[in-house]
Amino acid sequence: MPGFVEKPEPIQVPGLVHLHTGKVRELYQNAAGDLVMVASDRTSTFDWVLPTEIPDKGRILTQLSLWWFDQIADLVPHHVLSSDLPPGAPADWEGRTLVCKSLRMVPVECVARGYLTGSGLAEYNETRTVCGLALPEGLVDGSELPAPIFTPATKAAVGEHDENVSYEEVARQVGADTAAQLRQATLAVYSRARDIARERGIILADTKFEFGFEGDTLVIADEVLTPDSSRFWPADQWQPGRAQASFDKQFVRDWLTSPASGWDRKGEQPPPPLPEEIVAASRAKYVEAYERLTGTSWS
Ligand SMILES: Nc1ncnc2c1ncn2[C@@H]1O[C@H](COP(=O)(O)OP(=O)(O)OP(=O)(O)O)[C@@H](O)[C@H]1O
Ligand SMILES: [Mg+2]
Repeated sequence: MPGFVEKPEPIQVPGLVHLHTGKVRELYQNAAGDLVMVASDRTSTFDWVLPTEIPDKGRILTQLSLWWFDQIADLVPHHVLSSDLPPGAPADWEGRTLVCKSLRMVPVECVARGYLTGSGLAEYNETRTVCGLALPEGLVDGSELPAPIFTPATKAAVGEHDENVSYEEVARQVGADTAAQLRQATLAVYSRARDIARERGIILADTKFEFGFEGDTLVIADEVLTPDSSRFWPADQWQPGRAQASFDKQFVRDWLTSPASGWDRKGEQPPPPLPEEIVAASRAKYVEAYERLTGTSWS
């Protein structure tokens, strides 16, 4: 079963309780009960967390997420309290650690799609719907949708795929009021981000948000609008009817599926380590995404 090629040992920090090792991030709780999210340089492709890290990825994505939180702050409050290092944390956590409000999480992956691909395309091809929403005939891989849609999913365990569910199912699970708030916030934030990205030559095809409650207030949590939670496509290469070039993972995917890697995607074996030039090219893509989106230089 896909998953970690090598599961990392979490670093222990006095004063922090380790809660969880995600595919990419380590989660801790501090003495005040806040959540400490540490983004690693790990990367995952084809359901595997690869054995090779991409230097600076954790810092770049953390800074990008923080930048986005600012861009959307008038639409929905976010969970970040501080990006200061917790006392006693290793110096190399700097820039990739966020202290966040610990929220009552809503167990729904709130996906917005402006373009059709991935699991949305698969469902469309069978039923002409995505998450039960009817779509026009004639859409192909990469087509822009008439309007962005809210396509929620329920969270799956590591190595399994999230399951797309209908809006009605979400309303049954979390209540009609919360479901309406999730949909409204998801589409508002997606639309804002899509417009910002588009001006910078990047298509935000789809993205996933997670929300929680602080008291009665809906708060946007997790990471937002990073290449790990979103599909970014270079706008100048967009061509519906085929798989689009992935902004960040294309080099890795192309290499892993090429004879050079010697790896069989359909087989049982985990993927091999990435060569240096693939690592460097991938890092450059993360830097490029950061620089194009934020309009500031990375270093
Ligand atoms: N403010 C918050 N309060 C409480 N929980 C949060 C908050 N923000 C994010 N979370 C939760 O923290 C966890 C982040 O874990 P992470 O995303 O690293 O791993 P994962 O979701 O298990 O796996 P994956 O790597 O597939 O995303 C998620 O369960 C997310 O719902
Ligand atoms: Mg997650």
